[in-house]
Amino acid sequence: MSDTASIASNQRIFWNSEATRRWVTEQTRIDRMFTAVTEAILDSAAPSRGESVLDIGCGTGTILLKMAEAVGPDGQVLGVDISEQQLALARQRIAAAGTTWARVLLDDAGTHDFPAASFDLAVTRFGVMFFADPIAAFSNIRRAMQPGGRLALAVFRPGPDNPWATASLAAIRHLVTPPAPPGPEEPGQFSWGDPGRVRRILDGAGFRDVALTPLDLEFKVGANATEAAEFAMFIGQGARLLHGLPDTTREAARSAFEAFFTTYEGPGGVSLPGGLWLVSAVN
Ligand SMILES: C[S@@+](CC[C@H](N)C(=O)[O-])C[C@H]1O[C@@H](n2cnc3c(N)ncnc32)[C@H](O)[C@@H]1O
Repeated sequence: MSDTASIASNQRIFWNSEATRRWVTEQTRIDRMFTAVTEAILDSAAPSRGESVLDIGCGTGTILLKMAEAVGPDGQVLGVDISEQQLALARQRIAAAGTTWARVLLDDAGTHDFPAASFDLAVTRFGVMFFADPIAAFSNIRRAMQPGGRLALAVFRPGPDNPWATASLAAIRHLVTPPAPPGPEEPGQFSWGDPGRVRRILDGAGFRDVALTPLDLEFKVGANATEAAEFAMFIGQGARLLHGLPDTTREAARSAFEAFFTTYEGPGGVSLPGGLWLVSAVN
């Protein structure tokens, strides 16, 4: 298997595994935390009635449903994702919303054979950071877009700009040995953090007018330290490190996280900063 094929296969396994199941079971909580990101994507994408939209790595379908509402029944929305467990929930949500002009597809958005020039708009909330070969993936996506079609992506800036996801890891260093951080070209949560790399990918794929706008937010990770610790156990880097470890280690990690988050507890809950790029470009 080539390196690219093996990375893609590992991603498929990961996003269909128990390790990412909470993206489904905790969908409402995750959406609540990322409400400001969803709004920023809608503002940046500015979908109009009748447009055709691709949601890359649509997961459980939150952005897709917002797009469906915005484009209306004369438009079309397609969500593509490699995770069947997330798409199963997205299908239920589409059915409940009655937006028959929205649908999802199980496949790799980087290699799927889309009809050429079919989308006015391609969007994502955190669904583009895991491609095995991002330039090839975005070349494929660009071919599926109309001339003049717009790209509106939300991705994370580097780890140090995202204490909500990274700061608590120091609290469990005595329990787990973090693996070497992924290389700068490897997929991962912060793989689109470097603006130079983002430009290389999108310029390389043939997009023009690539622009990155920083977005600084506070993410509420829990109503209190106990809830924040539980959150850290199931999403992001902590969850990856702790997945499959003995219950005693996991319990010790939960306590360590809780002690860490106590220092951030305030009247409005536990909030920590997060930093994103809103990336736009034109075909
Ligand atoms: C961090 S989650 C975000 C999910 C969703 N966009 C949201 O905001 O809730 C990343 C998503 O990208 C999907 N993904 C990863 N690699 C992909 C690929 N090559 N093609 C399509 N989807 C992919 C994962 O399955 C997962 O649903």
